Amino acid sequence: MAKSHTRYVCQSCGASTARWAGRCESCGAWNTIVEEAAENLAPKGQSAKGGRKLDFVDLSGATAEIPRAVTGIAEFDRVCGGGLVPGSAILIGGDPGIGKSTLLLQVVARLATRGSTIYISGEEAIDQVRLRAKRLKVEGAQVALAAATSVRDILASLDGTDHKDVVVIDSIQTMYVDTLDSAPGTVAQVRASAQELIRLAKRRGFALFLVGHVTKEGMIAGPRVLEHMVDTVLYFEGERGHHFRILRAVKNRFGPTDEIGVFEMTDRGLAEVSNPSALFLAERRGDVSGAAVFAGMEGTRPVLVEVQALVAPSPFSTPRRQVVGWDAGRLAMITAVLDARCGVSLAGADVFLNVAGGLKINEPAADLACAAALISSLTQTPVPPDTVVFGEIGLACEVRQVGQSEARLKEAAKLGFSKAFLPKRRRKQAMGDAPLELVEIDQLAELVSRLDGDSSLRRKRA
Ligand code: TYD
Ligand code: MG
Repeated sequence: MAKSHTRYVCQSCGASTARWAGRCESCGAWNTIVEEAAENLAPKGQSAKGGRKLDFVDLSGATAEIPRAVTGIAEFDRVCGGGLVPGSAILIGGDPGIGKSTLLLQVVARLATRGSTIYISGEEAIDQVRLRAKRLKVEGAQVALAAATSVRDILASLDGTDHKDVVVIDSIQTMYVDTLDSAPGTVAQVRASAQELIRLAKRRGFALFLVGHVTKEGMIAGPRVLEHMVDTVLYFEGERGHHFRILRAVKNRFGPTDEIGVFEMTDRGLAEVSNPSALFLAERRGDVSGAAVFAGMEGTRPVLVEVQALVAPSPFSTPRRQVVGWDAGRLAMITAVLDARCGVSLAGADVFLNVAGGLKINEPAADLACAAALISSLTQTPVPPDTVVFGEIGLACEVRQVGQSEARLKEAAKLGFSKAFLPKRRRKQAMGDAPLELVEIDQLAELVSRLDGDSSLRRKRA
């Protein structure tokens, strides 16, 4: 039975054809058809009819505890959900040069003391990896190293009888399967290579790391195809020029998502940062206007960061709105609410907003802190010292409840803060025993009057 090895699949609608075409006949999209390796549902001539009957079971029943390989790098283990699960595939995405290879070399070196680890580099020569290992002071670790790009060779080498615990493929964009004609790095190659490697990892029960470079559009190459194939997706991010690096879980079948691990890039590799709040607030000047400390949550962990704003008269007819580390859409919403509901106009002013330290915040709970920074910059009045701020702002000017207030306040108290601006609590539940003065803000206008001592904003309006 002759079977073609490849087929052509539209990446937009999923229609499959035997020949390549510039335009998909099914959905009409242009340039979406790519070559893929054909999958055989029934290998070696078996028909799907001959499939095995499934054993259905109840929802209740004993479940085995998932065994996990713990690296001992606490920031890494937490993001993985408590360690690596055998047979799982983990994709680590990030900009080139951010430190993915460094992190994984440190991880496998740690794991090498307890199991068999393999590092396959498709990007760097053996000598380069060895030099890095020396720099990281892990050259003594029992890591089996190889430089290879052919998936066929890798499969042949890994499919032996001896057990492997962890395999790193750095990076998936350099790997190729020889049954496809397209070049390494194309969607078809990335997908086919990943599929083969993941299948082997599941069969042989080793944890597989795939390094993936992020394209200019911020996606792991191959329109997110890889994200669906793996069990865990981690992003390694950081601002260029900062040495903080944040490892973020965006998908995890074996643990929580939205957990972060914070690292600092040093001249001897990545060092764990176990108290990120202290680091993000290290360079804070207490008494300047235009800054507010936001008590945020990253997964289960409270993180305090400084939000800075600068409002300045604009020389342009269309004033600038620049945001680093936060959502520009939410800034527009807050300026609109300030203008329409609180009489604080930012028209004709350039607005710059920055989350200090290179962290990206995506919680709506940061609204109130951003508004406080904006108002403080506008009135040139500092936010009261040692104050943390959190709360979501609604379009009707109301300040809404956010989750995990207690954890936020506890962290603030731990770092020496004495006051908090927070949403009005519905129930007067105890906020732990945090020794903070709690200032409940029900309406955004209340915050404006608190930070606008001599009412200059409202006088201007009158
Ligand atoms: P790398 O791990 O090669 O990045 P990626 O694999 O994501 O492309 O990291 C490269 C950068 O990290 C490079 O600019 C040098 C820097 N670095 C350090 O600052 N200290 C170190 O100990 C190491 C190994 C790298
Ligand atoms: Mg690398």
